[in-house]
Amino acid sequence: MLMTDRFVAAQRAMDADVYLNPSIFEAELDTVLAATWQYAGHVSELANPGDYVSFEIAGEPLFTLRDNDGEIRTFFNVCMHRGHQLVAGSGSRKLIVCPYHAWSYRLDGKLHKAPHSDGRAGFDADEICLTQVQTEDFHGFLFVNLDPDARPMDELYPGIRATMVDFLPSIDRMQPIERREFVAESNWKVAVENYNECYHCKNVHASFSRGVVLPDSYTIKPVGQCLHHQADSSPDQYYDIDLEASPHAAEYTSFYLWPLFSFQVYPGPVLNTFCWRPESVGRTPFFREWFSLDGAESDVVHTVAEEDANTTVAEDLRLVASVQRGMASRGYRPGPLILDPDMGLNSEHTVAAIKAWYQEAMLGERS
Ligand code: FES
Ligand SMILES: [Fe+2]
Repeated sequence: MLMTDRFVAAQRAMDADVYLNPSIFEAELDTVLAATWQYAGHVSELANPGDYVSFEIAGEPLFTLRDNDGEIRTFFNVCMHRGHQLVAGSGSRKLIVCPYHAWSYRLDGKLHKAPHSDGRAGFDADEICLTQVQTEDFHGFLFVNLDPDARPMDELYPGIRATMVDFLPSIDRMQPIERREFVAESNWKVAVENYNECYHCKNVHASFSRGVVLPDSYTIKPVGQCLHHQADSSPDQYYDIDLEASPHAAEYTSFYLWPLFSFQVYPGPVLNTFCWRPESVGRTPFFREWFSLDGAESDVVHTVAEEDANTTVAEDLRLVASVQRGMASRGYRPGPLILDPDMGLNSEHTVAAIKAWYQEAMLGERS
């Protein structure tokens, strides 16, 4: 049996409890969020040594910086003295200085100075260093993994780094020019299942199905723990596309990286991303970023970002909120997934894939 055959074997949606139970959400912080690759930020935010961005994954405060050798590093955002938070937001520092007792750390995480510590019993400056976290640069997109034994992204998403270049030859030069924040009033799994199936597209997304893609050409193929969406562009595209930019400029594609990030390329090509940050069992803030070549201003990018927010995203937000309410009904029983071995538009094999990866994570298995 092919690894992907199990995603088209008859099965039902997951039990409502996994979308509703706060103690299951607490367990997921360890089993899923702290054990998978999560987005930290874009390399263009760390142009110079000392530049940093801070953020939170699985309830853990973290910051990513560029050190004096140009290396990108991520540390827990906690002082090794008595645990005060080190930095906030984003900015640039020559040294990381703790606001509490002014211990300072070099950009490689090693302790620089601790005031009044010379000769004090039990104090050895050489053994004090911030706790570092695995970081990967994926075409300028920085991902972190709190699991020190995590497998590299190229193993989990095999070939995707190269396939992305086929679709977007200039991906390493893309920079964010717009960011939009949203809140899904649902469990994060409801949000990413909805993102990854297009069975609902014709029914719900009129703008996307008429003005962006040709729905009947839509396929979604699992590649490792990536779901690769692909469709031809609509003949009634509502904005201009640059056919010279890539052999795939007239296609829509997206690369969902299990569990909480997706690269999406609208015909054009217009690169944009989804980053979901689960906050509680029933609430999932997420942000979308929109990119252009070298960060140049682009009316097309802003136009598509606006249309996307007002149509597809707004429509999906209503869907996932309704599903979350429905799951809580005592009348709900999980229904059968609609599974097509051709993995086309009207198939929920991707919901089955997410279910499989989720269950493996919760059971501590590796796929
Ligand atoms: S907690 Fe940071 S210097 Fe004391
Ligand atoms: Fe949708």
